[in-house]
Amino acid sequence: EHLALWGGRFSSGPSPELARLSKSTQFDWRLADDDIAGSRAHARALGRAGLLTDDELARMEAALDELQRRVDSGAFAPVEDDEDEATALERGLLEIAGDELGGKLRAGRSRNDQIACLIRMWLRRHARNIARELIALVDALIAQSEKAGHTVMPGRTHMQHAQPVLLAHQLMAHVWPLLRDIERLMDWDRRVNASPYGSGALAGNTLGLDPEAVARELGFARVTDNSIDGTAARDLVAEFAFVAAMTGVDISRLSEEIIIWNTQEFAFVRLDDAYSTGSSIMPQKKNPDIAELARGKSGRLIGDLTGLLATLKGLPTAYARDLQEDKEAVFDQVDTLEVLLPAFTGMVRTMRFDADRLEAEAPTGFALATDIAEWLVKHGVPFRHAHELSGACVKIAEGRGCELWDLTDDDFASTFAAFLPADEAKGVREVLSSHGSVNARNGKGGTAYGRVREQIADAKRQVEEM
Ligand code: ARG
Repeated sequence: EHLALWGGRFSSGPSPELARLSKSTQFDWRLADDDIAGSRAHARALGRAGLLTDDELARMEAALDELQRRVDSGAFAPVEDDEDEATALERGLLEIAGDELGGKLRAGRSRNDQIACLIRMWLRRHARNIARELIALVDALIAQSEKAGHTVMPGRTHMQHAQPVLLAHQLMAHVWPLLRDIERLMDWDRRVNASPYGSGALAGNTLGLDPEAVARELGFARVTDNSIDGTAARDLVAEFAFVAAMTGVDISRLSEEIIIWNTQEFAFVRLDDAYSTGSSIMPQKKNPDIAELARGKSGRLIGDLTGLLATLKGLPTAYARDLQEDKEAVFDQVDTLEVLLPAFTGMVRTMRFDADRLEAEAPTGFALATDIAEWLVKHGVPFRHAHELSGACVKIAEGRGCELWDLTDDDFASTFAAFLPADEAKGVREVLSSHGSVNARNGKGGTAYGRVREQIADAKRQVEEM
Protein backbone atom coordinates (compact mmCIF):
# COMPACT_ATOMS: atom_id res chain seq x y z
CA GLU A 1 0.00 0.00 0.00
CA HIS A 2 2.63 2.53 1.01
CA LEU A 3 4.34 1.93 -2.33
CA ALA A 4 1.27 3.20 -4.15
CA LEU A 5 2.77 6.36 -5.66
CA TRP A 6 6.46 5.61 -6.16
CA GLY A 7 7.08 1.94 -5.45
CA GLY A 8 9.36 1.10 -8.40
CA ARG A 9 12.78 2.14 -7.23
CA PHE A 10 12.21 1.81 -3.50
CA SER A 11 12.94 -1.30 -1.49
CA SER A 12 11.05 -0.14 1.58
CA GLY A 13 8.20 2.14 2.45
CA PRO A 14 8.70 5.37 4.39
CA SER A 15 9.68 5.12 8.03
CA PRO A 16 6.86 5.95 10.44
CA GLU A 17 8.66 9.15 11.46
CA LEU A 18 8.89 10.29 7.86
CA ALA A 19 5.27 9.39 7.22
CA ARG A 20 4.17 11.45 10.20
CA LEU A 21 6.23 14.44 9.11
CA SER A 22 5.23 14.22 5.47
CA LYS A 23 1.52 13.83 6.00
CA SER A 24 -0.73 16.72 5.04
CA THR A 25 -4.24 15.21 4.78
CA GLN A 26 -5.14 16.74 8.14
CA PHE A 27 -5.20 20.13 6.40
CA ASP A 28 -5.25 19.56 2.65
CA TRP A 29 -8.31 17.30 2.54
CA ARG A 30 -10.37 20.43 2.04
CA LEU A 31 -8.96 20.52 -1.50
CA ALA A 32 -10.62 17.19 -2.34
CA ASP A 33 -13.56 18.67 -4.30
CA ASP A 34 -11.26 20.82 -6.40
CA ASP A 35 -8.96 17.86 -6.96
CA ILE A 36 -11.83 15.74 -8.26
CA ALA A 37 -12.93 18.57 -10.56
CA GLY A 38 -9.34 18.75 -11.82
CA SER A 39 -9.31 15.00 -12.33
CA ARG A 40 -12.46 15.18 -14.45
CA ALA A 41 -10.94 17.85 -16.68
CA HIS A 42 -7.67 15.91 -16.87
CA ALA A 43 -9.48 12.69 -17.79
CA ARG A 44 -11.18 14.46 -20.69
CA ALA A 45 -7.79 15.83 -21.81
CA LEU A 46 -6.45 12.27 -21.77
CA GLY A 47 -9.49 11.22 -23.80
CA ARG A 48 -8.96 13.93 -26.41
CA ALA A 49 -5.29 12.91 -26.68
CA GLY A 50 -6.37 9.34 -27.40
CA LEU A 51 -4.96 8.02 -24.14
CA LEU A 52 -8.38 6.95 -22.85
CA THR A 53 -10.97 5.36 -25.14
CA ASP A 54 -14.51 6.77 -25.10
CA ASP A 55 -15.58 3.83 -23.00
CA GLU A 56 -12.69 4.26 -20.57
CA LEU A 57 -13.43 7.95 -20.27
CA ALA A 58 -17.10 7.28 -19.55
CA ARG A 59 -16.16 4.74 -16.85
CA MET A 60 -13.53 7.12 -15.45
CA GLU A 61 -16.06 9.94 -15.18
CA ALA A 62 -18.58 7.63 -13.53
CA ALA A 63 -15.90 6.51 -11.08
CA LEU A 64 -15.02 10.13 -10.28
CA ASP A 65 -18.73 10.88 -9.71
CA GLU A 66 -18.91 7.96 -7.32
CA LEU A 67 -15.73 9.12 -5.60
CA GLN A 68 -17.24 12.59 -5.17
CA ARG A 69 -20.39 11.06 -3.67
CA ARG A 70 -18.30 9.04 -1.20
CA VAL A 71 -16.27 12.10 -0.27
CA ASP A 72 -19.48 14.12 0.22
CA SER A 73 -21.09 11.47 2.40
CA GLY A 74 -17.92 10.85 4.36
CA ALA A 75 -17.90 7.21 3.21
CA PHE A 76 -14.47 7.89 1.78
CA ALA A 77 -11.88 9.78 3.81
CA PRO A 78 -8.09 9.78 4.17
CA VAL A 79 -6.51 7.03 6.24
CA GLU A 80 -3.31 7.02 8.24
CA ASP A 81 -1.14 5.89 5.31
CA ASP A 82 -2.32 8.53 2.83
CA GLU A 83 0.38 11.16 2.44
CA ASP A 84 -1.77 13.94 1.02
CA GLU A 85 -5.20 14.57 -0.46
CA ALA A 86 -3.98 13.49 -3.92
CA THR A 87 -2.67 10.16 -2.58
CA ALA A 88 -5.91 9.54 -0.76
CA LEU A 89 -8.07 10.33 -3.79
CA GLU A 90 -5.99 8.07 -6.01
CA ARG A 91 -6.54 5.26 -3.52
CA GLY A 92 -10.25 6.00 -3.59
CA LEU A 93 -10.34 6.02 -7.39
CA LEU A 94 -8.49 2.69 -7.59
CA GLU A 95 -11.00 1.19 -5.15
CA ILE A 96 -13.87 2.25 -7.40
CA ALA A 97 -12.43 1.94 -10.90
CA GLY A 98 -9.91 -0.83 -10.35
CA ASP A 99 -6.12 -0.65 -10.84
CA GLU A 100 -6.27 -1.05 -14.60
CA LEU A 101 -8.47 1.97 -15.39
CA GLY A 102 -7.83 3.99 -12.22
CA GLY A 103 -4.08 3.72 -12.81
CA LYS A 104 -4.38 5.62 -16.10
CA LEU A 105 -5.46 8.96 -14.64
CA ARG A 106 -2.07 9.94 -13.31
CA ALA A 107 -0.51 10.08 -16.79
CA GLY A 108 0.71 13.52 -17.81
CA ARG A 109 0.24 15.24 -14.50
CA SER A 110 2.23 15.59 -11.34
CA ARG A 111 1.16 16.45 -7.86
CA ASN A 112 3.25 19.57 -8.44
CA ASP A 113 1.06 21.09 -11.15
CA GLN A 114 -1.99 19.57 -9.50
CA ILE A 115 -1.47 21.18 -6.08
CA ALA A 116 -0.46 24.51 -7.63
CA CYS A 117 -3.74 24.49 -9.52
CA LEU A 118 -5.85 23.40 -6.54
CA ILE A 119 -4.65 26.14 -4.23
CA ARG A 120 -5.56 28.70 -6.90
CA MET A 121 -9.04 27.22 -7.37
CA TRP A 122 -9.68 27.08 -3.66
CA LEU A 123 -8.40 30.59 -2.95
CA ARG A 124 -10.32 32.15 -5.83
CA ARG A 125 -13.57 30.75 -4.49
CA HIS A 126 -12.90 31.90 -0.95
CA ALA A 127 -11.66 35.30 -2.11
CA ARG A 128 -15.12 35.80 -3.61
CA ASN A 129 -16.73 34.82 -0.29
CA ILE A 130 -14.54 37.22 1.59
CA ALA A 131 -15.26 40.00 -0.90
CA ARG A 132 -18.99 39.39 -0.39
CA GLU A 133 -18.55 39.54 3.38
CA LEU A 134 -16.58 42.77 3.03
CA ILE A 135 -19.34 44.27 0.91
CA ALA A 136 -21.81 43.43 3.69
CA LEU A 137 -19.56 45.24 6.17
CA VAL A 138 -19.27 48.23 3.85
CA ASP A 139 -23.06 48.27 3.50
CA ALA A 140 -23.41 48.28 7.29
CA LEU A 141 -20.99 51.19 7.64
CA ILE A 142 -22.76 53.11 4.89
CA ALA A 143 -26.13 52.50 6.58
CA GLN A 144 -24.71 53.84 9.87
CA SER A 145 -23.30 56.86 8.03
CA GLU A 146 -26.68 57.61 6.50
CA LYS A 147 -28.36 57.23 9.86
CA ALA A 148 -25.81 59.57 11.45
CA GLY A 149 -27.16 62.46 9.34
CA HIS A 150 -25.85 65.82 10.56
CA THR A 151 -24.40 64.52 13.84
CA VAL A 152 -21.00 66.02 14.60
CA MET A 153 -18.32 64.51 16.79
CA PRO A 154 -14.81 65.36 17.95
CA GLY A 155 -12.37 64.67 15.15
CA ARG A 156 -9.01 63.67 16.57
CA THR A 157 -5.37 63.56 15.56
CA HIS A 158 -2.84 62.07 17.99
CA MET A 159 -6.04 61.10 19.86
CA GLN A 160 -6.42 64.79 20.85
CA HIS A 161 -9.41 66.90 19.91
CA ALA A 162 -8.50 68.43 16.56
CA GLN A 163 -11.49 69.67 14.54
CA PRO A 164 -15.14 68.67 14.62
CA VAL A 165 -16.17 66.19 11.92
CA LEU A 166 -19.40 64.55 10.94
CA LEU A 167 -19.84 61.13 12.53
CA ALA A 168 -20.71 59.96 9.02
CA HIS A 169 -17.35 61.26 7.77
CA GLN A 170 -15.46 59.34 10.44
CA LEU A 171 -17.39 56.14 9.67
CA MET A 172 -16.94 56.54 5.93
CA ALA A 173 -13.18 56.88 6.52
CA HIS A 174 -13.29 53.15 7.27
CA VAL A 175 -15.29 52.34 4.15
CA TRP A 176 -12.64 53.41 1.65
CA PRO A 177 -9.84 51.10 2.84
CA LEU A 178 -12.31 48.21 2.86
CA LEU A 179 -13.38 49.05 -0.69
CA ARG A 180 -9.71 49.04 -1.65
CA ASP A 181 -9.32 45.61 -0.02
CA ILE A 182 -12.17 44.32 -2.17
CA GLU A 183 -10.57 45.91 -5.24
CA ARG A 184 -7.30 44.25 -4.31
CA LEU A 185 -9.02 40.87 -4.25
CA MET A 186 -10.59 41.54 -7.65
CA ASP A 187 -7.30 42.68 -9.08
CA TRP A 188 -5.49 39.67 -7.59
CA ASP A 189 -8.01 37.41 -9.26
CA ARG A 190 -6.91 38.68 -12.69
CA ARG A 191 -3.37 37.47 -12.00
CA VAL A 192 -4.33 34.17 -10.43
CA ASN A 193 -6.68 33.41 -13.33
CA ALA A 194 -4.22 31.00 -15.02
CA SER A 195 -4.12 27.23 -14.66
CA PRO A 196 -0.83 25.45 -13.93
CA TYR A 197 -2.30 22.11 -15.13
CA GLY A 198 -0.06 20.75 -17.89
CA SER A 199 3.11 22.02 -16.24
CA GLY A 200 3.77 18.49 -14.99
CA ALA A 201 6.51 18.16 -12.41
CA LEU A 202 8.29 21.22 -13.79
CA ALA A 203 8.98 20.92 -17.53
CA GLY A 204 5.58 20.37 -19.13
CA ASN A 205 4.15 17.12 -20.47
CA THR A 206 4.98 14.85 -23.38
CA LEU A 207 1.55 13.43 -23.93
CA GLY A 208 0.02 16.06 -26.18
CA LEU A 209 -2.56 17.08 -23.57
CA ASP A 210 -4.49 20.30 -24.08
CA PRO A 211 -3.96 22.48 -21.00
CA GLU A 212 -6.14 25.25 -22.46
CA ALA A 213 -9.21 23.02 -22.36
CA VAL A 214 -8.41 21.90 -18.80
CA ALA A 215 -8.01 25.53 -17.79
CA ARG A 216 -11.38 26.45 -19.28
CA GLU A 217 -13.13 23.57 -17.55
CA LEU A 218 -11.68 24.65 -14.22
CA GLY A 219 -12.81 28.25 -14.63
CA PHE A 220 -9.46 29.75 -15.61
CA ALA A 221 -9.09 32.23 -18.45
CA ARG A 222 -5.69 30.93 -19.51
CA VAL A 223 -2.76 28.60 -18.82
CA THR A 224 0.41 29.64 -16.99
CA ASP A 225 3.13 30.72 -19.43
CA ASN A 226 6.04 28.83 -17.94
CA SER A 227 5.76 25.34 -16.49
CA ILE A 228 8.46 25.95 -13.87
CA ASP A 229 6.74 29.12 -12.73
CA GLY A 230 3.40 27.29 -12.92
CA THR A 231 4.48 24.73 -10.34
CA ALA A 232 6.76 26.89 -8.20
CA ALA A 233 5.18 30.34 -8.01
CA ARG A 234 3.56 31.15 -4.69
CA ASP A 235 3.75 34.93 -4.98
CA LEU A 236 0.05 34.78 -5.80
CA VAL A 237 -0.65 32.90 -2.60
CA ALA A 238 1.45 35.44 -0.72
CA GLU A 239 -0.40 38.29 -2.42
CA PHE A 240 -3.69 36.85 -1.26
CA ALA A 241 -2.15 36.53 2.21
CA PHE A 242 -1.21 40.21 2.12
CA VAL A 243 -4.75 41.27 1.23
CA ALA A 244 -6.10 39.06 4.01
CA ALA A 245 -3.64 40.59 6.49
CA MET A 246 -4.38 44.12 5.29
CA THR A 247 -8.10 43.49 5.65
CA GLY A 248 -7.45 42.30 9.20
CA VAL A 249 -5.47 45.44 9.95
CA ASP A 250 -8.15 47.71 8.47
CA ILE A 251 -10.77 46.03 10.62
CA SER A 252 -8.49 46.19 13.63
CA ARG A 253 -8.20 49.96 13.33
CA LEU A 254 -11.97 50.32 13.28
CA SER A 255 -12.13 47.91 16.23
CA GLU A 256 -9.81 50.07 18.26
CA GLU A 257 -12.07 53.05 17.70
CA ILE A 258 -15.17 51.14 18.64
CA ILE A 259 -13.47 49.84 21.79
CA ILE A 260 -12.54 53.37 22.85
CA TRP A 261 -15.93 54.85 21.93
CA ASN A 262 -17.58 52.11 23.95
CA THR A 263 -15.75 53.00 27.19
CA GLN A 264 -17.62 54.68 30.02
CA GLU A 265 -15.44 57.78 29.65
CA PHE A 266 -16.24 58.22 25.97
CA ALA A 267 -19.71 56.66 25.89
CA PHE A 268 -20.07 57.54 22.21
CA VAL A 269 -21.47 54.18 21.20
CA ARG A 270 -23.37 51.30 22.73
CA LEU A 271 -23.07 47.79 21.38
CA ASP A 272 -26.10 45.59 21.03
CA ASP A 273 -26.44 42.88 23.68
CA ALA A 274 -26.42 40.19 21.01
CA TYR A 275 -23.00 41.38 19.91
CA SER A 276 -21.44 41.92 23.35
CA THR A 277 -20.30 39.57 26.06
CA GLY A 278 -20.57 39.61 29.83
CA SER A 279 -18.18 38.76 32.62
CA SER A 280 -18.27 35.56 34.66
CA ILE A 281 -17.58 37.51 37.85
CA MET A 282 -18.57 41.15 37.33
CA PRO A 283 -22.31 41.31 36.75
CA GLN A 284 -22.28 44.85 35.39
CA LYS A 285 -19.79 44.15 32.58
CA LYS A 286 -20.63 44.34 28.91
CA ASN A 287 -17.56 43.78 26.82
CA PRO A 288 -16.74 44.55 23.17
CA ASP A 289 -15.27 41.09 22.54
CA ILE A 290 -15.97 41.05 18.82
CA ALA A 291 -13.89 44.17 18.29
CA GLU A 292 -11.16 42.79 20.56
CA LEU A 293 -11.11 39.46 18.76
CA ALA A 294 -10.89 41.31 15.46
CA ARG A 295 -7.96 43.33 16.78
CA GLY A 296 -6.32 40.19 18.13
CA LYS A 297 -6.87 38.13 15.03
CA SER A 298 -5.27 40.78 12.85
CA GLY A 299 -2.00 39.77 14.54
CA ARG A 300 -2.55 36.20 13.52
CA LEU A 301 -3.39 37.20 9.94
CA ILE A 302 -0.13 39.15 9.77
CA GLY A 303 1.73 36.14 11.21
CA ASP A 304 0.33 33.90 8.47
CA LEU A 305 1.61 36.33 5.82
CA THR A 306 5.08 36.73 7.30
CA GLY A 307 5.41 32.98 7.90
CA LEU A 308 4.60 32.29 4.28
CA LEU A 309 7.03 34.92 2.99
CA ALA A 310 9.76 33.45 5.19
CA THR A 311 9.04 30.01 3.73
CA LEU A 312 9.36 31.32 0.18
CA LYS A 313 12.51 33.33 0.72
CA GLY A 314 15.55 31.50 -0.60
CA LEU A 315 13.64 28.69 -2.34
CA PRO A 316 15.15 27.68 -5.66
CA THR A 317 12.61 28.05 -8.43
CA ALA A 318 10.97 24.76 -9.16
CA TYR A 319 8.92 22.61 -6.82
CA ALA A 320 10.39 21.90 -3.40
CA ARG A 321 8.50 20.32 -0.57
CA ASP A 322 8.70 23.55 1.41
CA LEU A 323 5.86 24.72 -0.81
CA GLN A 324 3.48 22.42 1.03
CA GLU A 325 3.70 24.99 3.83
CA ASP A 326 1.77 27.55 1.79
CA LYS A 327 -1.58 26.01 2.57
CA GLU A 328 -2.02 26.20 6.32
CA ALA A 329 -1.17 29.90 6.29
CA VAL A 330 -3.92 30.88 3.88
CA PHE A 331 -6.39 28.29 5.16
CA ASP A 332 -6.01 29.85 8.58
CA GLN A 333 -6.54 33.33 7.15
CA VAL A 334 -9.64 32.30 5.26
CA ASP A 335 -11.08 30.46 8.27
CA THR A 336 -10.33 33.47 10.43
CA LEU A 337 -11.92 36.02 8.12
CA GLU A 338 -14.91 33.86 7.28
CA VAL A 339 -15.81 33.50 10.94
CA LEU A 340 -14.83 37.04 11.94
CA LEU A 341 -16.50 39.14 9.26
CA PRO A 342 -20.13 38.09 9.80
CA ALA A 343 -19.87 38.76 13.55
CA PHE A 344 -18.07 42.03 13.01
CA THR A 345 -20.65 43.21 10.51
CA GLY A 346 -23.44 42.30 12.94
CA MET A 347 -21.79 44.41 15.63
CA VAL A 348 -21.38 47.38 13.28
CA ARG A 349 -24.94 47.10 11.95
CA THR A 350 -26.48 47.13 15.43
CA MET A 351 -24.33 49.62 17.33
CA ARG A 352 -26.06 52.80 18.49
CA PHE A 353 -24.40 56.18 18.77
CA ASP A 354 -25.25 58.74 21.45
CA ALA A 355 -25.78 61.73 19.14
CA ASP A 356 -26.29 64.23 21.99
CA ARG A 357 -23.05 63.29 23.61
CA LEU A 358 -21.13 63.41 20.34
CA GLU A 359 -22.60 66.84 19.58
CA ALA A 360 -21.73 68.15 23.04
CA GLU A 361 -18.14 66.94 22.86
CA ALA A 362 -17.49 67.97 19.25
CA PRO A 363 -16.39 71.58 19.80
CA THR A 364 -14.69 71.07 23.18
CA GLY A 365 -10.97 71.01 23.76
CA PHE A 366 -10.60 74.19 21.68
CA ALA A 367 -11.43 72.22 18.53
CA LEU A 368 -12.56 75.45 16.84
CA ALA A 369 -9.16 77.16 17.13
CA THR A 370 -8.38 76.48 13.45
CA ASP A 371 -11.70 78.09 12.52
CA ILE A 372 -10.69 81.26 14.38
CA ALA A 373 -7.37 81.33 12.51
CA GLU A 374 -9.06 80.80 9.15
CA TRP A 375 -11.70 83.45 9.92
CA LEU A 376 -8.84 85.88 10.59
CA VAL A 377 -7.22 84.90 7.27
CA LYS A 378 -10.46 85.75 5.52
CA HIS A 379 -10.20 89.17 7.22
CA GLY A 380 -6.78 89.78 5.76
CA VAL A 381 -4.54 88.51 8.55
CA PRO A 382 -1.52 86.49 7.33
CA PHE A 383 -1.90 82.87 8.51
CA ARG A 384 1.26 82.93 10.61
CA HIS A 385 -0.19 85.75 12.71
CA ALA A 386 -3.70 84.32 12.60
CA HIS A 387 -2.35 81.07 14.08
CA GLU A 388 -0.72 83.03 16.91
CA LEU A 389 -3.82 85.11 17.64
CA SER A 390 -6.00 82.03 17.76
CA GLY A 391 -3.43 80.37 20.02
CA ALA A 392 -3.62 83.42 22.29
CA CYS A 393 -7.40 82.93 22.54
CA VAL A 394 -6.83 79.29 23.52
CA LYS A 395 -4.38 80.40 26.17
CA ILE A 396 -6.89 82.79 27.73
CA ALA A 397 -9.65 80.17 27.69
CA GLU A 398 -7.39 77.50 29.10
CA GLY A 399 -6.31 79.85 31.90
CA ARG A 400 -9.93 80.51 32.79
CA GLY A 401 -11.01 76.94 32.44
CA CYS A 402 -13.59 77.86 29.82
CA GLU A 403 -14.20 77.19 26.12
CA LEU A 404 -13.44 79.54 23.24
CA TRP A 405 -17.03 80.68 22.86
CA ASP A 406 -17.04 81.79 26.51
CA LEU A 407 -14.48 84.54 25.76
CA THR A 408 -15.91 88.08 25.86
CA ASP A 409 -16.11 90.54 22.99
CA ASP A 410 -13.39 92.50 24.77
CA ASP A 411 -11.14 89.44 24.85
CA PHE A 412 -11.41 89.10 21.06
CA ALA A 413 -11.06 92.83 20.48
CA SER A 414 -7.89 93.15 22.53
CA THR A 415 -6.34 89.95 21.17
CA PHE A 416 -6.93 90.94 17.54
CA ALA A 417 -6.24 94.67 18.13
CA ALA A 418 -3.08 94.83 16.02
CA PHE A 419 -4.98 93.59 12.93
CA LEU A 420 -8.71 94.31 13.26
CA PRO A 421 -10.92 97.16 14.52
CA ALA A 422 -12.64 96.28 17.80
CA ASP A 423 -16.17 96.14 16.35
CA GLU A 424 -15.07 93.64 13.69
CA ALA A 425 -13.30 91.32 16.12
CA LYS A 426 -16.39 89.94 17.79
CA GLY A 427 -17.62 88.74 14.38
CA VAL A 428 -15.42 85.70 14.94
CA ARG A 429 -18.31 84.23 16.93
CA GLU A 430 -19.97 83.23 13.66
CA VAL A 431 -17.47 80.36 13.26
CA LEU A 432 -17.56 79.26 16.88
CA SER A 433 -19.97 76.36 16.38
CA SER A 434 -19.17 72.83 15.30
CA HIS A 435 -21.81 72.81 12.56
CA GLY A 436 -20.41 76.04 11.14
CA SER A 437 -16.93 74.56 11.33
CA VAL A 438 -17.94 71.31 9.65
CA ASN A 439 -19.93 72.91 6.86
CA ALA A 440 -17.13 75.37 6.10
CA ARG A 441 -14.95 72.40 5.07
CA ASN A 442 -16.76 71.99 1.82
CA GLY A 443 -14.03 71.11 -0.65
CA LYS A 444 -14.08 67.70 -2.31
CA GLY A 445 -13.50 65.00 0.33
CA GLY A 446 -14.20 67.43 3.19
CA THR A 447 -16.48 66.89 6.15
CA ALA A 448 -19.24 69.36 5.10
CA TYR A 449 -22.64 67.67 5.05
CA GLY A 450 -23.07 67.99 1.28
CA ARG A 451 -19.62 66.56 0.62
CA VAL A 452 -20.27 63.61 2.91
CA ARG A 453 -23.57 62.91 1.09
CA GLU A 454 -21.63 63.00 -2.16
CA GLN A 455 -19.05 60.64 -0.69
CA ILE A 456 -21.71 58.17 0.44
CA ALA A 457 -23.27 58.21 -3.02
CA ASP A 458 -19.87 57.56 -4.63
CA ALA A 459 -19.18 54.64 -2.29
CA LYS A 460 -22.60 53.14 -3.03
CA ARG A 461 -21.96 53.45 -6.75
CA GLN A 462 -18.62 51.68 -6.34
CA VAL A 463 -20.26 48.85 -4.43
CA GLU A 464 -22.88 48.46 -7.12
CA GLU A 465 -20.24 48.25 -9.82
CA MET A 466 -18.27 45.57 -7.96
N1 ARG B 1 1.43 17.70 -0.88
C1 ARG B 1 2.36 18.46 -1.66
C2 ARG B 1 2.08 19.94 -1.51
O1 ARG B 1 1.10 20.28 -0.94
C3 ARG B 1 2.25 18.10 -3.11
C4 ARG B 1 2.99 16.87 -3.36
C5 ARG B 1 4.19 17.09 -4.13
N2 ARG B 1 5.12 16.16 -3.62
C6 ARG B 1 6.23 15.86 -4.25
N3 ARG B 1 6.97 14.98 -3.69
N4 ARG B 1 6.57 16.37 -5.37
O2 ARG B 1 2.85 20.77 -1.93
